[in-house]
Amino acid sequence: MNVRTILAGNWKMHKTAAETAAFFDAFLPRVAPIPAEIEIVVAPAFTSLQLAGEFLSGTRVRLGAQTMHWELQGAFTGEVSAPMLRALGVSHVILGHSERRAYCDETDRTVNLKVRTALAQGLTPIVAVGETLDERRAGATDERVLSQTRAAFEGVPEADLSKVAIAYEPIWAIGTGQSCEPDEANRVMATIRHAIDGLGGTPILYGGSMTASNVASYVRCSDINGGLVGGASLDPEGFAALIERAVPVSS
Ligand code: PGA
Repeated sequence: MNVRTILAGNWKMHKTAAETAAFFDAFLPRVAPIPAEIEIVVAPAFTSLQLAGEFLSGTRVRLGAQTMHWELQGAFTGEVSAPMLRALGVSHVILGHSERRAYCDETDRTVNLKVRTALAQGLTPIVAVGETLDERRAGATDERVLSQTRAAFEGVPEADLSKVAIAYEPIWAIGTGQSCEPDEANRVMATIRHAIDGLGGTPILYGGSMTASNVASYVRCSDINGGLVGGASLDPEGFAALIERAVPVSS
């Protein structure tokens, strides 16, 4: 099955609104010639979403958020809902990132609630899964990522699984410069795809110290459909170069 390619930048807690504007001034002209079949997403902090939405309106770059609440409104101080994101032009939302699981009480259950709400609200969830170094050393990688993936999609109709994306992000590879070997990342991603019915057409992205220098070695693998990029998405020239190198030679 031909699965679409997604390159998504996860800015985490970086960039003020002014820095966001400077990024898009430099980034948008550079990615304009990239073939349209590559889905480019940038996920800034909430405080930059409105401005980013204004920059991206009418361009081929899509706007992402880094999390959201599963309820549509209510007494949830500090939270942001799917309708609020949609109103700003957001089309994608990262859910279950390991930093939110580690520091912000995100659990398999809350990820599942958020996935269902995102789909019902017309947002594309990018669901992050991944093992710790201890889990990898204990030989528990596959078990860990499969249980996270199954939990995230519990109760989601199989037909809706083509509307989600998954990011396999080994936790030990995030922000460390120690990326997972492409063959091994591909093996884990193929395991996820084949273990769960309905993931044949779902983009599965690699995340964890992806750079312009190593992206090509990932996207040439059979089950890797792009990347979720942290540090290397913060620099407009660098992120544009990374995306260029992810374009298949034939396109
Ligand atoms: P990194 O982050 O590219 O800086 O390793 C990836 C992520 O956390 O999504």
